[in-house]
Amino acid sequence: MPFARQPLKAIYVAQRLITTLLMIPFWVLYYALLPRRYRPRPSWSLKQIVTVNFTRRIYKVTEVAGVTWGTRNPEAACDNRTLQETRFEWIDPLPVELCTGIIADKHVPHKRVGVFVWPKHDPEARGPSKSSDVALNDPLDIEAAAGEVPLIGIFLHGGGYCHMSAHEKAGTSKIPRRLIRDNTLTKVYGVEYRLLQHAPFPAAVQDAAAVYAHIVRQHQRHPLDSTSDTDPQIPGTKSEDPTEWDFLSPNDIPEAMRHDEENTKIKKHVTQAAQTMQCKIILIGDSAGGNLVLALARWIRDEGVLPLPDGLLLLSPSCDPSHAFPEAPSSYIPRPHASTDYLVDTPEPRALLQRTFLGHNSIETMHSPYVSPASGRVLRAFYGDAFAESVQFLTIRQMDTIARENLRTMVSAPATPVPMTPMVDAGPELERSPTSLARPIIASPRGLSLFSDFPKTCVVLGDAERLEREVMRLVGAMERDGVSVRTVWVEDGVHDVLQMGWWDKVVINKVWEGIEGWLRDFN
Ligand SMILES: *[C@@H]1O[C@H](CO)[C@@H](O)[C@H](O)[C@H]1NC(C)=O
Ligand SMILES: *[C@@H]1O[C@H](CO)[C@@H](O)[C@H](O)[C@H]1NC(C)=O
Repeated sequence: MPFARQPLKAIYVAQRLITTLLMIPFWVLYYALLPRRYRPRPSWSLKQIVTVNFTRRIYKVTEVAGVTWGTRNPEAACDNRTLQETRFEWIDPLPVELCTGIIADKHVPHKRVGVFVWPKHDPEARGPSKSSDVALNDPLDIEAAAGEVPLIGIFLHGGGYCHMSAHEKAGTSKIPRRLIRDNTLTKVYGVEYRLLQHAPFPAAVQDAAAVYAHIVRQHQRHPLDSTSDTDPQIPGTKSEDPTEWDFLSPNDIPEAMRHDEENTKIKKHVTQAAQTMQCKIILIGDSAGGNLVLALARWIRDEGVLPLPDGLLLLSPSCDPSHAFPEAPSSYIPRPHASTDYLVDTPEPRALLQRTFLGHNSIETMHSPYVSPASGRVLRAFYGDAFAESVQFLTIRQMDTIARENLRTMVSAPATPVPMTPMVDAGPELERSPTSLARPIIASPRGLSLFSDFPKTCVVLGDAERLEREVMRLVGAMERDGVSVRTVWVEDGVHDVLQMGWWDKVVINKVWEGIEGWLRDFN
């Protein structure tokens, strides 16, 4: 892009900033004089209108000029003394025996991952937990606490995979701060995953998976890296024969039967692993972080080497990045709510960003369920044209009135067979793994549907945001596959309101009530 290079970049950014600041008094005057019904949303205050229009203009600048903000070097440590609310820790890279499926990519090295752990002082190490008198540093005592195990969050911040960080000072840290302040979660790991400036897909999934495996290992009665042979059945233990786990390799069993056997085997192993867990894990992500949560959950489900998380909390999740890559330029359909959301939707810079995100991966990867789980193309491949069309343009209102019940009844219908037709001809040696990025096709292993076996999910979404349709498609597909989905609608809400300092506090508090009510059901 021409404006991404100096000196044009500096001139362009400065010019846009100054004109945007100059627009503020004009906007205030304009909307103060007009009757309320002419506001983008009648419920909005002048402050809300001005900040939305302001943020939109600034977002456009950052996209066109390639400016990033609020980022940190993921390889740098953070001095604990500079942190008030969190502590910084390094997590080891994912153990080799767990590097399977899409995250095993020889172009992207596994690295140690920095995490900001909320709260600063570890409640598990300190002894008495918030909700019981039992010291939690002994696993057996935890079990004794009448099923009350710590509820641990993994927070994956938003920012389009190119902005923000997990640092406590980042804007997105309002989310873990609130969860800890309200005592809803015992701890939250904010993951400093690698942004697209540092490494392409699947680096971010690798980093999130490393943190997930770390928490699982810490909270298992028999740690994954234990040398004792107490339970050789737990996947990931050293005693395990890796070939036994290569469920993606071809064999002579007829396909349908193979799926059944593999499913049973994986279920057994993962259930056993889950039974030894001394905590519950909720994956939390806003915007692009929500996209990452969906990819991580999918990897955990597909590979079956770790127990599934207990819940997913998706805040305005980005679930169709392939939107910037229409099958034909003429088939590009702009996202809705252009005049009420601050997100901009300029296809060209978006496509460039997505291309950087994919790096060495083929462009087909854009249409993988790991990247665009709610794209029309993925939904058509899994559920057929009729379903994909029925959810394509759903609004929040329609979902709440008619669609949801219909979707739920579809669950009892026979499972949709997963098409195994490759989208690209990758050659016979790559036909082995349905989830390998070398063969980025639209498929799930073991004949699972798009979201089967996904954990309970809570989705937060504003009805004035540009992601309305794609998130509705996500909710529709999850409902279709029998996932228990709680939805928290933000009335007249823009994208990712929980990380905005300036949104209506009454609305924000109501959204948090909805989320915390959902989280309380885990105890
Ligand atoms: C910060 O403190 C935690 C424990 O409080 C410790 O585990 C960690 O290593 C410290 N981080 C650094 C970078 O010193
Ligand atoms: C605020 O932004 C919207 C959407 O771009 C636009 O329609 C509206 O005119 C803007 N308001 C003013 C006063 O310029």
